[in-house]
Parts: sequence; C-alpha cells; structure tokens
Amino acid sequence: MTTRIAIFASGSGSNFQALVDACRNELLDATPALLVCDKPGAFVVERATSLDIPYFTFAPKSYSSKQEFEKHILSELKSYEVEFIILAGYMRLIGPTLLDAYKGRIVNIHPSLLPAFPGLDAVGQALSYGVKLTGVTIHFVDEGMDTGPIIAQEAITVDPDETKESLEKKIHKTEHTFYPKTLQQIFANKGEAVIK
Ligand code: GAR
Repeated sequence: MTTRIAIFASGSGSNFQALVDACRNELLDATPALLVCDKPGAFVVERATSLDIPYFTFAPKSYSSKQEFEKHILSELKSYEVEFIILAGYMRLIGPTLLDAYKGRIVNIHPSLLPAFPGLDAVGQALSYGVKLTGVTIHFVDEGMDTGPIIAQEAITVDPDETKESLEKKIHKTEHTFYPKTLQQIFANKGEAVIK
C-alpha cells in the first residue's frame, strides 16, 4: 500500500519536485500528502502550488519555541495522515516533539559522504577541504546534526577544475534519482531495513 509522506523543505525544492515526479511516474510508491516549509517565501512553495500539493508554511519566529511550532506541524501531519517525514533541504534540526511521534520514520538527504562535512554548506566545505571524492548520504534522523544511522551513500568525483556550481549540479543530479530509489527500498521494507 502506498506510503503517505510529508516532504519538509526550506529552499528551491528541486528534491521536492523530483520526489513528487517519482511518485507520479510510479517510480516511488508513495503519496506526497503535504509540503512543510519554514520559509513562507521559498520557491518550493511555488512548486507545491503548481504541482497541486497541499502545503503548510510557518515562520518559526512567530512561535515561542521549537516545541510550539513542532506541535503545530504535528497536528497538520495528523490531519493529512502522514506516515513518513522526508527531509529535502529542510535546514533545521528536528526536535523531540516530531522525533518522538515519528521515531524511525524520518529520513534526510545530505550532500556529502557523512560523517564528513555535516551541517551547512556541505558542498563548499568539501571543496575547501580539497577532497577528491564527495557524494550524497541518505540517513535516518536523530537529535543530532546529520548524525543518524546511514541508509545509503553514493560517491561523486570532484574534478580538478570543479567549481561550487558544477559540483552542486552533479550532486543535485544524483540526489534526484538516488532519493526516490532509496525511499522506495525503505518503504518496501516497511522502514525497518538499513540498506547497504
Ligand atoms: C540538497 O542538496 C540537500 O541535500 C541539501 O540541501 C539541498 C536542497 O536543494 N540538504 C542539506 O544540506 C541538509 N543538511 P533543493 O532545495 O533544490 O532540493
């Protein structure tokens, strides 16, 4: 049976788009039930409108705490009967309210080979360090910053003349097929299997 997902994003939302496309092209047996976005003006909201996906946007500063806005998110997730939370460029740590409610059912994609280069600007960090190989990691989410159990990784070569733009382009291209493919394997295993 199809898995109902909420996709969380903060920015452009190219991964959001790729996930919705994969669902519609039957590459991913999931229903994108809701977009959750913490930046009301982000381009991903326009994508959701064009794709006819319901969205919930919120401004964290208008709440007294993370707990308060996560309670609000949780009530939205419940009303859309969301089973899994899929983070796709959501630039915020998940707090105990959502972690407790969706234990083992929150997945993130990160643009580096974790545990290298967690946090912000992973692509820039990898380039500055001078690594010859970087990549994409998909992992379950825990309370840390990009620290949860790793589900799958794909490596990407950093060419000698690589720029941040060219590397970001390669990473996005990989993410757009790797994320739906990996989620499909997770859902087929009911979220229990850790895929090597
Ligand atoms: C993606 O590259 C994703 O891996 C990254 O943000 C980008 C969002 O792009 N996520 C993180 O850095 C999480 N720590 P998008 O808005 O075009 O999907």
